[in-house]
Amino acid sequence: MTPVEPLTSRAVRIDQTGGPECMQLMDVVVGDPGPGEVRIRHHAIGLNFIDVYQRSGLYALPLPLQLGMEGAGVVEAVGSDVSHLQVGDRVAYAANVPGSYCDRRVMPAMAVCRLPDAISFETGAAMMLKGLTAQYLLKKCKPVEGLEPGDFVLFHAAAGGVGLIACQWARALGLRLIATAGTDAKCQLALDNGAAYAINYSTEDFASRVKQITAGQGVKVVYDSVGKDTWDKSLDCLTPLGLMVTFGNASGPVPPFAPAILAAKGSIYVTRQTLFSHLTSRARAQAMADDLFAVVESGAVKIHIDQRYPLAQVQQAHRDLEARKTTGCTVLLP
Ligand SMILES: NC(=O)c1ccc[n+]([C@@H]2O[C@H](COP(=O)([O-])OP(=O)(O)OC[C@H]3O[C@@H](n4cnc5c(N)ncnc54)[C@H](OP(=O)(O)O)[C@@H]3O)[C@@H](O)[C@H]2O)c1
Repeated sequence: MTPVEPLTSRAVRIDQTGGPECMQLMDVVVGDPGPGEVRIRHHAIGLNFIDVYQRSGLYALPLPLQLGMEGAGVVEAVGSDVSHLQVGDRVAYAANVPGSYCDRRVMPAMAVCRLPDAISFETGAAMMLKGLTAQYLLKKCKPVEGLEPGDFVLFHAAAGGVGLIACQWARALGLRLIATAGTDAKCQLALDNGAAYAINYSTEDFASRVKQITAGQGVKVVYDSVGKDTWDKSLDCLTPLGLMVTFGNASGPVPPFAPAILAAKGSIYVTRQTLFSHLTSRARAQAMADDLFAVVESGAVKIHIDQRYPLAQVQQAHRDLEARKTTGCTVLLP
């Protein structure tokens, strides 16, 4: 009998944490899905800043590590105990099990969602992690006094992947989103995508501009994924009882702080959020994805894929993301 060749895939892995050069493309064996799992053949893979944190070691994970948290493709095989997916389904996912930087993979089916026919694989791969993040930020992270149409919010790095989705979704919700970004061109992009105001935080003092725009009142929510560089001034942008949502560290982690400063700044609230706390069941993941699919299919939110790289050029993709050269979403193509 002729031995059956094992199924293989190209995959991007790291043996040690470090710079982009530590990512290597190699061939790996891919098995069959076990209970609760599916095997997916990717058509597109999403690039996210969390991939940089995992690659650099800021977020420590066991090594060796196959990177990537987001992708879209076709289901090739379905394990037992999976009832919502079938072989041949078009799917997309954001999942807390790294490994999407590859041609095909086996993964838990829980957060894998069927992709509506009207949404392409590239869009699906670009939008799941970033769009579900915008969803929970705008719809679940509410200040204690609520968030109503007309309210001011501040969103940092607004011309990025999560940012451009948030600008458009906030406009659809009637919020007055004040964007920050690192260049005038990025500020214009945020304005073109629904931001009510934009501040170039490389050249302007964003806290005093926010006070000016809001006639001294401040904003109800600050969404801050920049971290170290924006933390202090962001607290000064909030109205009393406002909410500081810290959800990333593009410039480095937020330093430790004394709780008493929250009282001094108006009894403000602080929360540190991660998407994966919101994706803890199939029902929750699907409900959030349905909300995202609906807002994208309605045209209220357009997914801007401003960069595409072959999977083999993943090192360059990371360099460009870290150097703040990208806007909107980036996909890797297997
Ligand atoms: N917690 C969660 O649930 C969650 C989920 C998704 C994403 N995130 C976070 O949200 C942020 C956006 O993610 P993304 O994938 O869409 O990335 P992105 O916004 O496309 O890229 C990051 C942006 O951060 C800004 N930035 C400011 N200081 C920076 C620095 N020192 N180095 C690099 N970039 C800097 C840059 O925009 P400017 O040039 O305009 O400043 C850059 O383009 C990331 O911090 C990510 O970790 C968190």
